[in-house]
Amino acid sequence: MSTAEIYSPGLEGVVAGETAISTVEGGLRYRGYPVTELAQKAGFDEVAYLLLYDDLPNPKQLAEFQQRVAAARQIPAPLQDLQKALPPATAPMDALRTAVSVLAHFDPDTADSSHAANVRKAERLLGQIPVAIAFQYRFSKALPVVKPRADLSNEANFLYMIHGKEPSAAETRALDVSLILYAEHEFNASTFTARVACSTESDLHSGIVAAIGALKGPLHGGANEKVMDILRAAGGPETAEKWIRNALARKERIMGFGHRVYKTGDVRARILKEFTKKAAEATGQTKWEKTAEIIEQVVQSEKNLLPNLDWPAGRLYHAMNLEVPLYTPIFVMSRVAGWSAHIIEQLDHNRLIRPRARYTGPDVRPVKPLNERR
Ligand SMILES: CC(C)(COP(=O)(O)OP(=O)(O)OC[C@H]1O[C@@H](n2cnc3c(N)ncnc32)[C@H](O)[C@@H]1OP(=O)(O)O)[C@@H](O)C(=O)NCCC(=O)NCCS
Repeated sequence: MSTAEIYSPGLEGVVAGETAISTVEGGLRYRGYPVTELAQKAGFDEVAYLLLYDDLPNPKQLAEFQQRVAAARQIPAPLQDLQKALPPATAPMDALRTAVSVLAHFDPDTADSSHAANVRKAERLLGQIPVAIAFQYRFSKALPVVKPRADLSNEANFLYMIHGKEPSAAETRALDVSLILYAEHEFNASTFTARVACSTESDLHSGIVAAIGALKGPLHGGANEKVMDILRAAGGPETAEKWIRNALARKERIMGFGHRVYKTGDVRARILKEFTKKAAEATGQTKWEKTAEIIEQVVQSEKNLLPNLDWPAGRLYHAMNLEVPLYTPIFVMSRVAGWSAHIIEQLDHNRLIRPRARYTGPDVRPVKPLNERR
């Protein structure tokens, strides 16, 4: 390797490619639109369309897109049989990784990596993934599955399939906003994983499966499943301050805080916090919101760390009576739009992603025959 090599552990600060899909510079924007405005004026379907088709839809384009996605709200019977056969304790995120892999076998476009085919596959996954999550959830609890409804919105249908009853408008909108905020985030670990996988000219489903594996980790999407652990460990507003001070003194990592790129706060967390507060108030249970507030204050004053999106998202989903292992799969329901947009962009201007490594192993040495090795 040349002596002018650039090395940054964890690729921190490295510009590893170009994208027209989003930027975090000057505030998070999806294809130029500030996420703050999208969260106020648009729904997740519009944002998914924006990511896949480069601009926001007009009413006709949106209606047709929603129809296509709603028509894809089904999963093949053999996948349902496989889901039933998985051990009941299988983590929903693991089951979802398997499900997307199986869906590839049944997709008519799997082997076609043209731009148009990749958009079709992405649209189908937007419809299929919520169904796969909800069916697996109900199979694992030996509950009858609730069939998807094409007349409900993406978010309302998901909550309906999980709970077996239609959600309120406020719940639907809160989930919708969380999906808008989760949809896309430049070269984060899972998106980069998807791009690396597809830069070999592998197919879109393989890229999404790889991305799900990367998202699962607690330093990435898995953090939203750890938020309730933190709050429960803190115990409540009376014990929170002491607990968090001790946790920081023990050098514990507080999931839902900090970010590789945002060092002065994550605007997405500020937007979602309002919805989380309202959702908690609607349940009459504000204990965890009060606890979270105390933790936020101490983590900021002691470590100068601010919450990321997972911190309010984990609490929001809890207030919506969703079980913790569903939280990262919900992230997938949304991020599949961003991942797909990146895979499509990568393949439209592909160059194999193959960096170099700095070697730290032994110096050159001779291979001894087996019988001479001790
Ligand atoms: C997201 C994350 C991996 C980014 O970390 P990073 O850029 O690699 O930063 P580092 O891990 O190098 O941390 C820098 C310092 O801040 C501390 N820190 C960072 N995040 C922290 C957290 N959540 N809790 C406690 N300390 C934290 C580190 O311990 C380190 O302190 P030190 O310099 O005294 O050793 C990290 O903030 C984290 O682990 N957060 C919790 C997981 C999470 O919420 N992930 C979702 C991200 S959207």
